[in-house]
Amino acid sequence: MSETFHLAVVGATGAVGQEILRILEKRHFPVKTMRCFASSRSQGRLVTFQGQSIPVEILAPNSFKGVDIAIFSAGRKVALEYAPLAQKEGTIVVDNSSAFRKDPHIPLIIPEINAHAIKKHEGIIASPNCTTAIMLMALHPLHRHFGIKRIVAATYQAASGAGAQAMHELTLETKALLEDKSFDRSVMPHPYAFNLFLHNSPLLENGYLEEELKMLYETRKILEDETIRLTATCVRVPILRAHSIALNVEFHAPACKEQAYALLRQAQGITILENRKENYFPMPIDATGQDHVLCGRIREDLSQPNTLELWVVGDQLLKGAALNAVQIAELLIKKHDESSTAQH
Ligand code: A2P
Repeated sequence: MSETFHLAVVGATGAVGQEILRILEKRHFPVKTMRCFASSRSQGRLVTFQGQSIPVEILAPNSFKGVDIAIFSAGRKVALEYAPLAQKEGTIVVDNSSAFRKDPHIPLIIPEINAHAIKKHEGIIASPNCTTAIMLMALHPLHRHFGIKRIVAATYQAASGAGAQAMHELTLETKALLEDKSFDRSVMPHPYAFNLFLHNSPLLENGYLEEELKMLYETRKILEDETIRLTATCVRVPILRAHSIALNVEFHAPACKEQAYALLRQAQGITILENRKENYFPMPIDATGQDHVLCGRIREDLSQPNTLELWVVGDQLLKGAALNAVQIAELLIKKHDESSTAQH
C-alpha cells in the first residue's frame, strides 16, 4: 500500500477525537495531510499528531475541500449539519454519533462483525454506540454459533461517554468531596463522585432511556437479525473511561459455558480475563487503554435452559468509539486498494 490520504478529524479536541489522532498514528494509517476541526471554543488551540503541532480549525461549511476521509466525533447535531456537506465534496465520513445509525441506507459497522456492509456505503458510515460495540464484541461469536433469542443487559457506564468535560468534572468533584468542599456541577445532572445514576440520555414515553433503545436497534442492525429481543438498564458509574456490562443471554440452540469460552478464546478483539481461585474478573482498570474487550465469568443461568451469563468490560474511548471508527477507515483503505488493483 503506497497511497496516502488527506484526513480530517472533526471534534479533534474531544476525548474521542484525541484518541482517534493517537490511534491513527499508532496504527500507521497512511496519512498525507491531517486537518483538525473543533468549535469556536477551541480557537487558537493546537493538537499533536505524529509529533507535530496542528492548529485547530473552526468547522465551517467549506472545511472539507480536498479531504478524502473525515472521522467525526462531535455529536449528533454537528454530524447532521456537516456530514452531508462533506459528502457533497466527495469526502467519506465515518461518524461516531447517533445521527445516522438508524438510517437503513447508511451502514453501521463493527469491522470484526459486519465489515461486508462497507460495500453499500454512499459516503457516510456510522460507528455504533459505545455500549453496543463493547457488548457485541462478546456476543457475536456466540450468536453465530447458538443464535441469540433474547438479551437482558445491565450497564455500568463511565464518564468518558459524556465527553472530556464530564471526565474532568468527575475528577474535580471527587477531589472536592474528599476535601470537604462544595462543588458546582455543570456537565452531569446529578452528584457523580461516590454515587451512580440512571444514564443521562432522554427518558422516553415508554420508560426506557434513549441509550437503552440504541442497544436494541443497533444490535439488530449489526447482527442483521430483526428477531433478537433485548431489554437493558443503563447506569452511569463514577469510572473514568471503561464500561462494564452484565449480560444474560438466551439462545435458540443449547448453549454451554465450555463452548462459549472456546468460541470467545478464538474470537478477534476479545480477551478472556479471569482467575476463579482469586475471584478475579475483568475490571474497568484492566480494560482502560486496551484495544481488546475483556470477558469473564461465563456461567450457565440456573433459572432457565439455553441461557448464559457473561461479564464484559471495554474501554469506551477505544473499542467503544475511536478504535472502531479508525478500523472502519482502515476498511475504506482496503476497499480502495482492492478496487485500484482490480483496475490495473
Ligand atoms: P470544542 O472542544 O471546541 O468544544 P467531547 O465529546 O469530549 O465533549 O468532545 C466533543 C468534540 O466536539 C470537541 O472537540 C468539541 O470541540 C467538538 N464540537 C462540539 N461542538 C462543535 C461544533 N459546533 N463544531 C465543531 N466541533 C464541535
